[in-house]
Amino acid sequence: MLAAFGEQLEAVLDSLVPASGKAERLYQAMRYALLGGGKYLRPYIVDAAAGIFEVSQTASLRTGAAVEMIHAYSLVHDDLPAMDDDDLRRGRATCHRAFDEATAILAGDALLTLAFRTLAEPETHPDGAVRAALVASLADCAGGRGMVGGQMMDLVSEHAPVGVDAVFDIMRLKTGALLTFSAMAGAILGQADDRARQALRDFGSDLGLAFQMKDDLLDVEGDEASLGKRAAKDAAAGKATLVSLLGVEGAHREARRTSDAALAHLDCFGPRADRLRSVAVFVLARDR
Ligand code: IPE
Ligand code: IPE
Ligand code: MG
Ligand code: MG
Ligand code: MG
Repeated sequence: MLAAFGEQLEAVLDSLVPASGKAERLYQAMRYALLGGGKYLRPYIVDAAAGIFEVSQTASLRTGAAVEMIHAYSLVHDDLPAMDDDDLRRGRATCHRAFDEATAILAGDALLTLAFRTLAEPETHPDGAVRAALVASLADCAGGRGMVGGQMMDLVSEHAPVGVDAVFDIMRLKTGALLTFSAMAGAILGQADDRARQALRDFGSDLGLAFQMKDDLLDVEGDEASLGKRAAKDAAAGKATLVSLLGVEGAHREARRTSDAALAHLDCFGPRADRLRSVAVFVLARDR
């Protein structure tokens, strides 16, 4: 599903993050974190959602590149010793292992800032109001009330008793927020009406829940070779997940339920949303 799209996106990422530059080591680490091995699911969602409104592919690819920069930065920091302390990502050493911790922190910082620069450039969309809406929305979804806030709650959950509702809140923020942005960005780029925007926001949020449930199930059921990252880490770290609270069967059931809920939000778009529907199927079927 994603292979041909991945090549197009990588060409855009490659041009946005050139290999050379004064701080060469920084750019090497940024490219290491960004290129080669990721599924590029978030940019694919942007492109599929934008496709509903016949947005230009330059616009959707650049917006997808911006959200992928945020995602890559979030993984570089997520893998640091101070957070999940991982040494394997996408089948190779994590960024701080391949480089060093300081370089990994800085590479994350630079990817975060470059994402907003990318959205702000006129090549992303001719209308400044659209670009401003993308910037504001990505800031909301990536920041303290979005992904970063969720990462904080995830870490606190390692040391505190946490119930099902709180685990849903964590998943909605740490993972759901960037998927919500990705789907909603299609409507922003397409200058769609509020109803369409809300439907895509709800789709992204529910899909994010299903996506994180599957990630947590893969941590228990998957194997390192296909995952490209270490397995059985969540229980060892004492993370509160749906798997730890409801068991494997319960988590599978919830993943199917939220994926179905995500799909229901697409009914209003008819066949134009078929590419997005295929994402929901992929999210539960994947093995990495
Ligand atoms: C992993 O995301 C982190 C989570 C939010 C669960 P992905 O599974 O999309 O990671 P890559 O980019 O494909 O490696
Ligand atoms: C990561 O969740 C969510 C982020 C915002 C990066 P995980 O910690 O479960 O992701 P993996 O399993 O390391 O990819
Ligand atoms: Mg984590
Ligand atoms: Mg992790
Ligand atoms: Mg995980």
